[in-house]
Order: sequence, then C-alpha cells, then structure tokens
Amino acid sequence: MTQSRQTTHFGEQEVALEDKQALVNAVFHGVADRYDLMNDLMSGGIHRVWKDAMIADLAPPKQGTRPYRVLDMAGGTGDIAERIINASVGYAEVVVADINSDMLRVGAERAKSWRFPTQASFIEANAEKLPFEDKSFDAYTIAFGIRNVPRIELALGEAHRVLKRGGRLIVLEFSQVDVPGLDEPVPRIFR
Ligand SMILES: C[S@@+](CC[C@H](N)C(=O)[O-])C[C@H]1O[C@@H](n2cnc3c(N)ncnc32)[C@H](O)[C@@H]1O
Repeated sequence: MTQSRQTTHFGEQEVALEDKQALVNAVFHGVADRYDLMNDLMSGGIHRVWKDAMIADLAPPKQGTRPYRVLDMAGGTGDIAERIINASVGYAEVVVADINSDMLRVGAERAKSWRFPTQASFIEANAEKLPFEDKSFDAYTIAFGIRNVPRIELALGEAHRVLKRGGRLIVLEFSQVDVPGLDEPVPRIFR
C-alpha cells in the first residue's frame, strides 16, 4: 500500500510539508543582510504603505495603566516592530520573534539606531510552537510571514493561546482578489 505524503506550496512549487521550513529558512538566511533593500526595490517602496495601513489598523495606545505588549511574529528585521513602537510614541513593548537567526541579527543591529531602541526584544522562535506564556500579549501581528509557515493552523492556534482575552490578531498577507483584469495577488489585512 502506498502512503500519500502531505504537500504544500513553496512559491510556485509543490513540496513535501516536512521539507518546506528548511527551504524557507535557506532563502532568508541567504538574503538577511540585504532583505530591507530588496523589499524596497522589489515593491518599489510600496510595502511601506501596506505596513503603515496595518499599524493604523492596530492603532497601538500611546499611554495606559499597564504595558501594551505586542508579539510581531515572523518579524524578521524588525520593520513592523519599529513602526508599532513609533506609533505608540515609545509606549508599546514589542517582541520580534522569528525562526531565522540571521534576520533577527540584522534587526537587532538596526534597532540600536531606532528612536526607542529599548522597547523591542528579538527572540528566535517557530510560529508553530511559541516559547511564551498563555495570554501574555495584547496583540499578535504577522506581516508577509504566514505564507512561509508550513502548518498555518498550528501558528494560528499558538496566536490564540498567547493572546490575552480581547487581544488583536492582525495578518498582512498577499491574497488573490476577484476583480476582472487584476490577476496579481494584492496585500490584504486580516483581523
Ligand atoms: C517575508 S519575511 C517578513 C519579515 C517582516 N515581517 C516584514 O514584513 O518585513 C518572512 C519572515 O518569516 C520568517 N519565518 C518563516 N517561517 C517561520 C516560522 N515557522 N516561524 C517564525 N518565523 C518564520 C522568516 O524567517 C522571515 O523572516
């Protein structure tokens, strides 16, 4: 009897589910040092507009009676974290979690020159199994990251586990739209 293997997408390719993470990791280890520049070149800078829309949606508070903690999952070089912290004028505390140590290294280095460098921490973690306590974050953001995670249902389960009651989950990701003539994927914000 032949057993069918579970497969998933890696770009245009169909790959075995258990192979995807290593393929994804190889890509980001390879581009980490020029990721931010590539993002600007490949999107013509428009990724900044999409990310700003995500932050506007999150609308992090600028003050409060207790810390406002955000987990920026697949946070890479910290672009989203910097925007959240700046939007909160230094009030939000953001944990940038990513499976890739090179992306985090670049992010941590960049963060030294941010306006509020002490508000972010960089932690190596797999979205499918998080090293954080239950109900420990006010918001969970993930930008252009969910498509890279092989078992999305596990990542969403973990997001639910670490979010406080009433916490926000915001996903920025490419999506296909049913608009005639518009066949390219466009970014969308999912809440
Ligand atoms: C396209 S980058 C997005 C980085 C950042 N969020 C941004 O918008 O600039 C995708 C990120 O997902 C990370 N990633 C892939 N699989 C992951 C996983 N299972 N758990 C955590 N991070 C993952 C990669 O290492 C990479 O840094």
